[in-house]
Amino acid sequence: MKVARFSRIGFILAASGSAIGLGNIWKFPYITGKFGGGAFVLMYLVTVVLIGLSIMIAEMLIGYLGRADTVTSFEKLAPKNKQFWKYGGFQALAGLLVMIYYSVVIGWIFNYIVTSLSGLPSSVDEAKTIFSTMLHSDFKTQLFYHTVSFALITFVVARGIKGGIEKLNLVLMPMLFIIIGGMFLYATTLDSFHQAVEFMFKPDFSKIDSTAFVTAVGHAFFTLSLGMGAIMTYSASLEKGQNLVTSSIVVVIADTAIALLAGLMLFTFLYEYGGEPSSGPGLVFISLPAVFYQMGILGNVFAVMFFISLAFAGLTSAVSLVEPMIQYFIDRFSWSRIKASVLMGLFFYLVGIVAILSQLDSFSSYLTWENKNFFDWVDFFTATFMLPVGGLIMSIFVGYIMPKSQVEKVLRPQLGRAFDTWYFSLRYIAPISLVIVMLNLAGVIG
Ligand code: PFF
Repeated sequence: MKVARFSRIGFILAASGSAIGLGNIWKFPYITGKFGGGAFVLMYLVTVVLIGLSIMIAEMLIGYLGRADTVTSFEKLAPKNKQFWKYGGFQALAGLLVMIYYSVVIGWIFNYIVTSLSGLPSSVDEAKTIFSTMLHSDFKTQLFYHTVSFALITFVVARGIKGGIEKLNLVLMPMLFIIIGGMFLYATTLDSFHQAVEFMFKPDFSKIDSTAFVTAVGHAFFTLSLGMGAIMTYSASLEKGQNLVTSSIVVVIADTAIALLAGLMLFTFLYEYGGEPSSGPGLVFISLPAVFYQMGILGNVFAVMFFISLAFAGLTSAVSLVEPMIQYFIDRFSWSRIKASVLMGLFFYLVGIVAILSQLDSFSSYLTWENKNFFDWVDFFTATFMLPVGGLIMSIFVGYIMPKSQVEKVLRPQLGRAFDTWYFSLRYIAPISLVIVMLNLAGVIG
């Protein structure tokens, strides 16, 4: 039984939709703020080009040649020790784990769309109170919007690659580009725009330490959707004869462009209306609403548009986070798509409720270990551990385990003379950087 395939444009939009997510618009600006701007952006860009692009091509290749769920693809492509290598495919689990908090955050965004319609906080202090009340004591609102998020995501993936995922991306992605592009253009007309450009592109290397390096590499992986089986699973539904290299380049450029545009726009608004670039994860939920308030009625429109675009970015990534496990149960256990979608949905929905509880004042003490609550643990474990491990497995698998001739046959014609550079980067630069990241995390170095 096989399955509808992506059209070429559908694939590009879906892979870009996966990559462009909360990571670009919510996370990238605040970590850039935290690490002081320019030097961090530069490191992130170098990582994206040197490691991200190489691994993206490798991940696409595994999916494209495997043409199945992630576990089966590894099993099929390993020349020997298939029963060992199939475990490489379990990186798909990371996506489902990320969904535990990703769906909750999409829920907050829905809540902010609705509240921005009725009014914005008039000061950063008021915005802070609103956000922390929602987070620490308002279980009902979070549960309600987490339920909406779960229902929407499950509905889309239950409709499949063509009727669900491709359609969603065909509609939402162009709208996302228009909204972010439009708001960015407006930002360029403000006096503070040059200050934002300076902040993001003038490197101050004194702000850079090993934590900044680890964060940049981790974020490059997260933002490009690497190491969780998402790109691999989508490429398994790609028509034969497609160019993986141009697809990867387009996705990397689109993803980077949106992150940079969103960052420039947010920092311009913050400088113009007096917010703090370094205000942390609350940047878009706390500083930004207060900034929008300062803009008057235009601010209300911007706030709603901004949170809608954030929701779109989140939803198109969310479907790619659950799809790998759905595909796994369909391929390996012959589950129907509906059954797989509902059960995967229920998993992240129910565990997501634990994540919400872990931030509530009344429960957090039961759900906090070593200074991190359950919500933060899931984020930390997936983004900084599972993801680099997934990347390492792919670079070793394509770089050392798959016969070079098989890799070359597909990629030499597409990469031309750049093939050798890519292969080198995959075999040496990517794995060495990833090992450094892991050692650093484990506290061995840095
Ligand atoms: N790339 C998404 C973001 O930037 O928010 C998150 C993500 C989606 C990570 C899919 C991994 C993945 F497989």
